[in-house]
Amino acid sequence: MRRSTGEHSLDPSGYDAELRRHNEVLRRICGVRLQDVVLDIGCGTGQTTREAARAAREGNALGVDVSAPAIERARESARAEGLRNVTFEVANAEVHRFPQERFDLAISRFGTMFFDDPAAAFANIGRALRPAGRLVMLVWQPHDRNEWAVEIRQSIAGFEGAASTGPDAFSLGDPATVRRILDAAGFTEITFTDVDESVYYGPDVDAALDWVRRFACTSEIVKRLDAADEARAVGRLRETLTAHLSDDGVWFGSRAWVVTARRGAPSR
Ligand SMILES: C[S@@+](CC[C@H](N)C(=O)[O-])C[C@H]1O[C@@H](n2cnc3c(N)ncnc32)[C@H](O)[C@@H]1O
Repeated sequence: MRRSTGEHSLDPSGYDAELRRHNEVLRRICGVRLQDVVLDIGCGTGQTTREAARAAREGNALGVDVSAPAIERARESARAEGLRNVTFEVANAEVHRFPQERFDLAISRFGTMFFDDPAAAFANIGRALRPAGRLVMLVWQPHDRNEWAVEIRQSIAGFEGAASTGPDAFSLGDPATVRRILDAAGFTEITFTDVDESVYYGPDVDAALDWVRRFACTSEIVKRLDAADEARAVGRLRETLTAHLSDDGVWFGSRAWVVTARRGAPSR
């Protein structure tokens, strides 16, 4: 199921709110230090980049993303917050010519699952890291372990064209596959931390429906339906969301990994 690729929602409050519990875990494991130089891969509207910049007061942070509108929003937020040690660039992290051996830490919140050639992409990121520099990335575990993905897919299953297409948000869900990719890209000390936190879709069902309808995996399908099927599909989504409404909003279970690795010694 495609959750999002270059189509990161431009509503930073929505995505940042959805992932607030995940973000705490990621931030703790990143452990950005005062003088770190940080690269944020697939930074979207840049919450994690700005947080890294705040922690690295004597260092700096660069966020890169293929989405120009997302980068523009990230820049606006950084300007509004008066941050001077953060920059953003529109770039494809897979092939971008980063300065070599510049970064102490490469981070990502769900921005590394969409590479065409993951081994080449992580090798490219590895070259941007200083020797022994760290990679810390949050990625989804497999689809079937993610209640949100399973239930959204079930809600829209059966409608014409409901099969998901395009890049796979769960492509780094299997630890053995990720180990193989990172090992081939020259990383060592690869670890996985199980993140068993819920995602938040909004304070009530209307807000949650509005949010979930923006996901690539729903919007691309719903837009192909005729009016009657659209009404039925949206009705089913609404029922699913209603079943997850609690006193503090609409929440779904999710499972992710924080993957950490260290750049190995470069082969000369
Ligand atoms: C799920 S969003 C996460 C955005 C951001 N990390 C956050 O947590 O708010 C995935 C992001 O990865 C970006 N992306 C996908 N492939 C990329 C690539 N090859 N290089 C840079 N960014 C990429 C997308 O444009 C999108 O903004």
